[in-house]
Amino acid sequence: MYPAKKLKENPETPSLRYTAPFYKSLRCLSFINILKRRTHLLREWFIFVHMETVVSGIRPTGKLHLGNYFGAYKNFLTLQESHQCYFFIADYHSLTTHPNPADLRKNALHVLAEYIALGLDPEKCAIYLQSDLPETAELYLFMAMNAYKGELERVTSFKDKIKDNPNNINAGLLTYPVLMAADILIHHGTKVPVGKDQEQHLEMARTFGNRFNRIYDTEYFAEPTAFNFDNKLVKVPGLSGTGKMSKSAGEADCIYLCDDAKTLEKKIKRAKTDAGPSAPHSEMSPEIKNLFDLMALVSTDETRLFFEEEHAKASIRYGDFKGQLAKDMEAFIAPKRDAILGLVGDTKKLNSIAQLGKEKAHVSGAKTLKEVRKIIGFGS
Ligand code: ADP
Ligand code: TRP
Repeated sequence: MYPAKKLKENPETPSLRYTAPFYKSLRCLSFINILKRRTHLLREWFIFVHMETVVSGIRPTGKLHLGNYFGAYKNFLTLQESHQCYFFIADYHSLTTHPNPADLRKNALHVLAEYIALGLDPEKCAIYLQSDLPETAELYLFMAMNAYKGELERVTSFKDKIKDNPNNINAGLLTYPVLMAADILIHHGTKVPVGKDQEQHLEMARTFGNRFNRIYDTEYFAEPTAFNFDNKLVKVPGLSGTGKMSKSAGEADCIYLCDDAKTLEKKIKRAKTDAGPSAPHSEMSPEIKNLFDLMALVSTDETRLFFEEEHAKASIRYGDFKGQLAKDMEAFIAPKRDAILGLVGDTKKLNSIAQLGKEKAHVSGAKTLKEVRKIIGFGS
């Protein structure tokens, strides 16, 4: 369970749930509030007894895009209702690309604003900055002692990154999966909502946790697994028509959750297409298939089927198809964009949410570290 004692009562503080002593709140709460509070406690008790722990994070290397939303974030939203959840902003991980110190906190708070504006509730889960839980770094150190160069060098994301940036092959990049394992294991996370590209990192987290158990002859760490509600990890394609939507593939590849209508229209208009189906029932090119995949995320089935039929009849007009996709995308993005832009400037509120998350995460992190140190043989 999260800590019993929390931040002082303050109108800016998002969670008052843990603040006042119970007897005091009983006196001042109305009957309905008491009932509400009991429901909260019951929910927490139920989660504590029955549910697994969920852990996930997103690097603050840019604004959230459609891939982050459908691959990871959407599951965060559902899981917070029924699970013990820890969602963080992976600012330690972002150091592999040496961000400017002036931007580091600003970027982290931007992602925090997006987490909150899109519906994550700091009362229901622990939402924190990774760097606010330095115990993660200590666990990373312990895990790194049993992580081997050969296995780390074989990780696909490492191989891709050193190919793209041969001048920045740093140790943080090599040990990225070790830090990720520490993020998860520090809270004994078992369900990890992530996109398909993170599958191999999760496999490594299991390897490191199991290896620790074997070395110290314990069953201390449970096995984490990548999680998506459909039992199928998601891969949202980028607009460039090649790989997954990704910040590193550049602005034009991504649809951001705070893109304005004009930008969305421009990006979709510029997305690559082909010369058009030359005959009925021609196979879709990868670029067109990608656009249909994006349409499946934001348009109705009816709309998608209409354009699929047009493609099958070889009568599709890509201008109309893209126009419809841009319109549906704007309808999907607009309320999210408004909510994000409404919160992102409220640094006071965001700092206070981060503080609350830090305290919640610390309870679980400090406990794990104390136990791990003991298992390893440090202290009494
Ligand atoms: P990026 O690849 O743009 O740098 P991150 O690596 O920060 O994004 O990803 C954060 C989360 O979003 C991870 O769980 C990742 O699997 C998920 N994710 C990122 N891009 C996609 C995508 N195109 N499709 C599905 N999930 C994605
Ligand atoms: N590696 C993830 C990404 O690039 C971010 C991340 C860091 C993460 N630590 C994690 C995700 C722990 C899940 C659990 O997207």
